[in-house]
Amino acid sequence: MSDSKLNIVVIGASGHLARTKIYPALFSLYCQGFLPDDFYIAGYARSSMTQATFRERITEKLTCRYSPEGDDCSHNMEAFLGRCCYHAGQYDSGADFSAMANEAGLSPKDNTLFYLAVPPSVFYPVAEAIQDAGLVGHAEDPWTRIVIEKPFGRDRVSSDELTELMGQVFSETQVFRIDHYLGKEVIQNLVVLRFANLIFEPIWNRDYIESVQITWQENKSIEGRGGYFDEVGIIRDVMQNHLLQILALVAMEPPSRLGATHIQDEKVRVLKCISPPGVDEVVTGQFVGTTSDKYTVMGYKDDPTVPDDSNTPTYAATVMHVVNRRWDGVPFLMIAGKGMDASANEIRIQFRDVPANMFRLAGENPSRNALVINVQPDASIYFEIVAKVPGVGMKLDSRLLDLRYASAFNEIIPDAYEDLLLDVINGEKSLFIREDELAASWDVFTPLLKEIEAGGVSPVDYPFGSKSGPEAAAALAERHGMTLTDFQASKDAT
Ligand SMILES: NC(=O)c1ccc[n+]([C@@H]2O[C@H](COP(=O)([O-])OP(=O)(O)OC[C@H]3O[C@@H](n4cnc5c(N)ncnc54)[C@H](OP(=O)(O)O)[C@@H]3O)[C@@H](O)[C@H]2O)c1
Repeated sequence: MSDSKLNIVVIGASGHLARTKIYPALFSLYCQGFLPDDFYIAGYARSSMTQATFRERITEKLTCRYSPEGDDCSHNMEAFLGRCCYHAGQYDSGADFSAMANEAGLSPKDNTLFYLAVPPSVFYPVAEAIQDAGLVGHAEDPWTRIVIEKPFGRDRVSSDELTELMGQVFSETQVFRIDHYLGKEVIQNLVVLRFANLIFEPIWNRDYIESVQITWQENKSIEGRGGYFDEVGIIRDVMQNHLLQILALVAMEPPSRLGATHIQDEKVRVLKCISPPGVDEVVTGQFVGTTSDKYTVMGYKDDPTVPDDSNTPTYAATVMHVVNRRWDGVPFLMIAGKGMDASANEIRIQFRDVPANMFRLAGENPSRNALVINVQPDASIYFEIVAKVPGVGMKLDSRLLDLRYASAFNEIIPDAYEDLLLDVINGEKSLFIREDELAASWDVFTPLLKEIEAGGVSPVDYPFGSKSGPEAAAALAERHGMTLTDFQASKDAT
């Protein structure tokens, strides 16, 4: 870590992301000694707020999780809050940014990180205003870096436009595109699991793996964020970024070395091998309201922030094909849905049948192996094996070789933003999305998004709290030899 002063400017500091993720992550880094001795955090947004109100708002979400048991860490909070200030200003005003820089004592001699926690529509005005204020420094020594949050455009063309505009102010080295899923512990472990263990690589291919299922689902509605969600939909919100990044990590070839360039090169290579899914390989849905003895839940279009004639999918299932020597013929089923019966994010690697299985020939019906990586809610990795059930006679059943993070590790599992922010400070880009990677991921989904918007695919109704979304999703899975995972049943079983 450099001893230079570090200035962090959180733009959109009045917002949800800043309050719930960015400030808590910075506080955690501070408590663990990862910030340099000399740092300053300037919050910037349009809302007018006193320093006291601002500090009160951010304090609500700070936790003492990194303090020894019994320590209330109030001294740490006070010291941290003493380095945090709020500055009100317009996003497109170089003069306002200059005033903030003067008040905050920003200097081109210091390292400076700009975090854009604002809607993408203001990314470029902010970048220009930062430039007008003379605050864009070098890529290194001292550095200026900028972090942006998805969504990065709506399709390949608008994403390229955004990249081009931001490129007029910041070089690619200075831009850190966050996909916070890449900062999650279990996702980071994918690379370790695959490439630091001898046993997986020889069987990680079409000869042994029959299918891959990547699911993200939420037992939630849109919670008043209909204005945002209706513009975006589930494919742009979850599939094009989080799930496609997971797929790339599962399917990429082994990078020759650790490091951003090698890992991103392999991700780009595999993304370019995916054939864009057509309308016959996709099912979309929209949840409708349900009433039970216990509760009544509004449907998507009943939400006052959603237009009555909305065609936006809240659920999508699609089968992707990675056309290369390793994966040809292996279906990758990707599912994302809101308004489901349980919240979960899971990767299921389904292995093939044992050829000429002697137990099957003897009349048994042994299950097959599966490697399951549960990102949430459990943070666990388990391998489903076939075992003999103890007792006389030969009865087979499936059991788990199980790595549950909660019991396997004593360490605190950091929030994804902690790791990602530390990486930005250290200039480490492995967990960020490179320009060509972003373009390749839009190429996968842009044709389908265009078809959906042209009315080529209409969302099918499914009830809020549904186990598996629209019925057609189970049929799509079955067509490719898969069954949809029943997450509520697995939850009940544990
Ligand atoms: N929340 C999350 O967990 C999350 C996750 C992934 C990505 N993101 C992305 O990160 C960004 C920030 O998220 P957020 O949840 O913090 O959003 P937010 O609370 O809606 O917005 C952050 C701040 O931006 C300003 N703002 C809001 N709408 C604006 C508009 N139309 N024009 C100009 N300024 C506007 C507001 O500040 P002032 O009015 O005070 O200026 C607001 O406090 C969003 O683009 C979102 O898509 C968020």
